Amino acid sequence: MDYLEIEGGNKLSGEITIDGAKNAALPLLAATILFENEVTIENLPRVNDVFTMLRLLENLGASYSYEENTAKINSHYITNTRAIYDIVRKMRASILTLGPLLARFGQCEVSLPGGCAIGQRPIDLHLKALEMMGAEIIIEQGYIRATAPEGLKGATIVFDKITVTGTENIVMAAALAHGESKIINAAKEPEVVQLCQVLNDNGIKIEGIGSDELIIQGTGQKLITAKKPIKVIPDRIEAGTYLCAGAITNSEITLKSVNHTHLFAIILKLQEMGFDFDLSEDSITIKPASKVKGAKITTSEYPGFPTDMQAQFMALALRAQGASLIEEKLFENRFMHVSELIRMGANIILSNYTATVEGKSNLNGADVMATDLRASSALVLAALVANGTTRVHRIYHLDRGYVGLEKKLQQLGAKVKRLKE
Ligand code: EPZ
Repeated sequence: MDYLEIEGGNKLSGEITIDGAKNAALPLLAATILFENEVTIENLPRVNDVFTMLRLLENLGASYSYEENTAKINSHYITNTRAIYDIVRKMRASILTLGPLLARFGQCEVSLPGGCAIGQRPIDLHLKALEMMGAEIIIEQGYIRATAPEGLKGATIVFDKITVTGTENIVMAAALAHGESKIINAAKEPEVVQLCQVLNDNGIKIEGIGSDELIIQGTGQKLITAKKPIKVIPDRIEAGTYLCAGAITNSEITLKSVNHTHLFAIILKLQEMGFDFDLSEDSITIKPASKVKGAKITTSEYPGFPTDMQAQFMALALRAQGASLIEEKLFENRFMHVSELIRMGANIILSNYTATVEGKSNLNGADVMATDLRASSALVLAALVANGTTRVHRIYHLDRGYVGLEKKLQQLGAKVKRLKE
């Protein structure tokens, strides 16, 4: 297993390019099940989750080629409708094959994704919505067995909670359903918006894109024809993570290939903490703060402050002049980074879903353990400003969602090495 060895204390400078968004790429890859011809997807990030999804599609019978961040996938000849445990257990977003497979074939078996470090991550809302569309669903031997012999029928779905992959699953199911579907309380994340735009560009009439109410006209199990290549949107969480790298080291760095409109909550919170920005067409420069102020952060669904940036901002808050209050509202266990940060000298008090973070922390390098994707990036950020050497272990978590994190940090002047245990 690899680990990162980081020498703290270096200022950063220069510029890096942001990759395509993992959380946009995964639903777009699953959506190829809905197409009768080859789909070209560009700007795919070279992260493990993308390759896991490609392997899953291939296991179902799709064929694909991948080079230079572009995949060409043809799902026309899919015959197998069983998403096996051995692949699904590696990536819970495999659940995104459930909606398309069921809508297209009228039956499928998808392994239950199981839990994960940040919470129980139930999928009850996905299943309830599919039942509203006429599916019969039973859970046995760790698999979701779903059947809809006459195909799915359009229905009105009200999500009790806003769910990103739940919305994506049902949008894809509704695309091939018989009749019109309405999704109320839909997620509005940019990744959900891109999926809707791609389906709409290829013949699925979707109204309300970007809003919390979507109306989708299904094709009645007729497959869609891809008309042009799809370009995955930039990764707003990768961008936010590097903005925090610039902020925590109080450096000026530039990120290229970003979409500012997806970063507003992150930019505004950093401005509140004292940082300034130069924005140009598709790049953003963060400028040092004269004084870093503490912040009050409450995570919420888009366009609010993203839960996927909570851990990174906690690391940054350690360097603020004052205390910060961070409330995690989406996941019940997304403070796994706290104990590791405390081992580096942080002073953080947890009570229920709120963390009180003391500022002006004097962090010391240590051996720390990554537990989940975003917690790992928080440990790397803290290591950039810790006294001495930090070794971040189990960085396979990082490799799931960040393209060449150590290379990009090296490009910015950080002293980071990737070594073998
Ligand atoms: C997506 O996960 C993202 N993953 C997550 O990013 C992200 O943290 C999350 O949305 C929230 O923004 C992908 O897009 C692949 P949810 P998802 O369904 O869809 C509850 C990362 O770091 N819920 O929006 O699984 C759930 O427990 C990952 O890239 C139900 O109760 O999240 C949570 O409390 C981590 N029942 C809340 O809703 C359900 O059926 C939001 O979850 C579904 C969800």
